[in-house]
Amino acid sequence: MIPQWIKKLDEIISNWCVAHSHNIADLRWYARLRVPKPMFGYMDGAADSEVTLARNQADFARYDLLPRYLINVQNIDTSTTVMGEKIDFPIVCAPTGMSRLFNNDGELAVCAAAAEAGTVYSLSTMSTHSIEEVASHTTGVKWFQLYPFKDRALVSELIERARTAGYKGLCLTIDVPVAGNRERDLRTGMAIPPKLTLSSWFSFFLHPLWSIKYLLSDEFQLANVIHKAPVSGDSATTLVGYLNEQFDPTISWEDAAEMLKLWDGPFALKGICCVEDAIKAADLGATAVILSNHGGRQLDHSISPITLLPEVVSAVGDRVEIIVDGGIRRGTDVIKALALGATACMVGRPYLFGLGAGGKKGVAKALSILRNEFSRDMALSGCRSVEEINLGLIRENR
Ligand code: LAC
Repeated sequence: MIPQWIKKLDEIISNWCVAHSHNIADLRWYARLRVPKPMFGYMDGAADSEVTLARNQADFARYDLLPRYLINVQNIDTSTTVMGEKIDFPIVCAPTGMSRLFNNDGELAVCAAAAEAGTVYSLSTMSTHSIEEVASHTTGVKWFQLYPFKDRALVSELIERARTAGYKGLCLTIDVPVAGNRERDLRTGMAIPPKLTLSSWFSFFLHPLWSIKYLLSDEFQLANVIHKAPVSGDSATTLVGYLNEQFDPTISWEDAAEMLKLWDGPFALKGICCVEDAIKAADLGATAVILSNHGGRQLDHSISPITLLPEVVSAVGDRVEIIVDGGIRRGTDVIKALALGATACMVGRPYLFGLGAGGKKGVAKALSILRNEFSRDMALSGCRSVEEINLGLIRENR
């Protein structure tokens, strides 16, 4: 049990960080202060030289906006529909693993904040709170993200549990046939469960609040798969070791088709990085393709989603919904994605920065920052509804 005075102190600091965050970069700054280095590095870092991580964001600058004026923009409607769900603004929460590493409330904080903000929360297979716990914590719309474990019985079980618990959509992540090379994790000694190693003890010492809360809570586990693929309690392992041991590198399009059939509901393929795969996903009957390179955490130098978007729109835009995941930090990024033909955007790190900076309030702040920016940017562009955001608003600048 965490003593009351620790909770109070945590709340005071969280409130301060949230109140002093005016954009996603501010939340990142406070998260960096509050979360020990191994965990912050895991959240913030990416693969190899992190070229894709940087490009995901930077490539939005390849496009200029062409705003229209002398339009009555007193009333702005930011709502839209994605995979059959009406959401208050076109940003959904991406699945992110092991949220408890960034704040003890983990996925429970994120799903509650997403529901209050009026958007979808996607729960990762690799979560630290289970499918059922998250489902009973909030009535908001939830999708479940599926990883293909070698144990196919476990995969079928996860699909069934998500359906029973009322999840509305399934996202199959296809870009982790093997784990990416995350060098920050090697440097910081990031392990699961977190361990006090020589290289990390100093960081835990510098983050006493995080460390006390972590130590006084339930044991760290991957809640959805603890019964079949637990992380070993006695010997800390690297994430790479775990993924390579558990995930199935032989997964094929036939397997994806089987999972889609088993789910028999709104289905997205996450990790689409080329037009050919987008076409295959549409042929498969997917509801949506999620253009994503896993936040640059898998294959470095993968194309950024915003760069790929126009080609995918012209190939399959009339057959599937297109969700852009990667590099979104501003309302203008969302406008650009929608102008180029995306249905919605997904954010991962932005809300995790919020979670690290201030728990549930931090997640709520991240979502409200993005929503407010998007709404203001719509008004400044002369768009009163999401339908009015179109190609006329955007031009490539080189
Ligand atoms: C990651 C996996 C767990 O990116 O999704 O770390």
